[in-house]
Amino acid sequence: MKKCQVVAIAAAIAAGSICGLGVPGSTRTAAAAEPAVTFREDVLPVFQIRCVSCHSPTGEGYKASGLDLTTYKGVIAGTKYGPMVVPGDPDSSNLMRLLDWKVSPQLRMPHNKKQLSVCDRDAIRTWIREGAKDN
Ligand code: HEC
Repeated sequence: MKKCQVVAIAAAIAAGSICGLGVPGSTRTAAAAEPAVTFREDVLPVFQIRCVSCHSPTGEGYKASGLDLTTYKGVIAGTKYGPMVVPGDPDSSNLMRLLDWKVSPQLRMPHNKKQLSVCDRDAIRTWIREGAKDN
């Protein structure tokens, strides 16, 4: 599944957060047998919990930017200014810059809220690197 789960313990110590809470760590070592990161299992749930309160068609984030994070189509379409995701290239994807807080404070996402965990950000990063597929 997610690469970050292998480094979850180190990241948890560093970032003060724990990936996959409630899932026994021992099941995570069988990484080779697990599927790649998927949009539906690893990415969309993060958006649903942390973003769609503002980034669905009635939310303030959608009204300000045009970005709808409730569907794959919306995520790929991006904002009214253009795409936020460059498939295969997380470093060029503005979405990652916002989530990694490499932008001015008012553009950090989620807006005025706690930063996403290293685990969640790495899942999104891996999903983009693997082509940002509708999987
Ligand atoms: C509390 C409301 C809120 C939440 C939660 C929120 N956003 Fe936003 N988002 C906004 C607002 C408001 C803007 C417009 C910011 C601006 O243009 O100044 C915005 C803009 C954006 C943009 C476009 C920025 C640009 O350069 O135009 C992206 C991408 C984005 N949000 C992603 C996310 C993601 C991903 C999450 C969840 C991790 C998230 N947002 C959570 C309110 C929110």
